[in-house]
Amino acid sequence: MYIIEADNITKKFNDLTVFEDLNIGVKKGEVLVVIGPSGSGKSTFLRCLNNLETIDGGEITVEGEKLNPKDKKVLRNLRTKMGMVFQNFNLFPHMTALENVMEGPITVKKENKEQVKKRAEMLLNKVGLGEKMNHYPSKLSGGQKQRVAIARALAMEPDIMLFDEPTSALDPELVGEVLNVMKDLAKEGMTMLVVTHEMSFARDVADRVIFMDGGKIVEEATPDCIFTNPKEIRTKEFLKKVI
Ligand SMILES: Nc1ncnc2c1ncn2[C@@H]1O[C@H](COP(=O)(O)OP(=O)(O)OP(=O)(O)O)[C@@H](O)[C@H]1O
Ligand SMILES: [Mg+2]
Repeated sequence: MYIIEADNITKKFNDLTVFEDLNIGVKKGEVLVVIGPSGSGKSTFLRCLNNLETIDGGEITVEGEKLNPKDKKVLRNLRTKMGMVFQNFNLFPHMTALENVMEGPITVKKENKEQVKKRAEMLLNKVGLGEKMNHYPSKLSGGQKQRVAIARALAMEPDIMLFDEPTSALDPELVGEVLNVMKDLAKEGMTMLVVTHEMSFARDVADRVIFMDGGKIVEEATPDCIFTNPKEIRTKEFLKKVI
């Protein structure tokens, strides 16, 4: 039973075809990690799933509901089902950490402010930022900003979390604190689709790993198989470069 189904999807930018007839499904509670070289279409794929890009062919279904870019209600639903964390945090600079986390539930879901505040405080505590709630993003480290971004996505109470290279803009010593928050989420059973170059995270946390190259799935396997015994030459060559 798939919670996300990308069925034969095609995405083009003018005459560049990023992928064609791509099929990827994510199961409920699964941690699916996507790896692959730069330009292989990983970010574009994630962005299609939550309608930041529109597909040129095929079908995307999230929790049984077909994504229709023309249907505002479906799109609003989608925003509440799926949280996304980007490489560059994308926090609102004029809002404190707490305000950033509270924004979505109040403006999109029209929830009660006091309740949202309680949940936002709980989430910021959970990601280890209880002390920094009233700080503006400019006063936070990269790792702290990214943890606020995760809390902000979780505040919408999503069923699925998408991560696009959440640690690649961070100094090496800050990577671990973000990965630990993601590991905890995985342990709690969150469905996660993670694009990352952190192979040790993929090895420890993924249920399944997809290696993508040139818009195609080259290989798909358990982390054990793909890291110790990759079948395809392209996978082997890629892993040799990154590990
Ligand atoms: N908005 C856009 N307009 C035109 N071309 C784009 C756009 N976004 C991405 N592309 C192109 O689509 C292809 C796939 O890009 P994408 O960002 O999905 O790759 P990626 O696998 O995420 O790479 P990286 O590991 O560097 O993040 C690339 O050739 C890129 O130049
Ligand atoms: Mg990318």
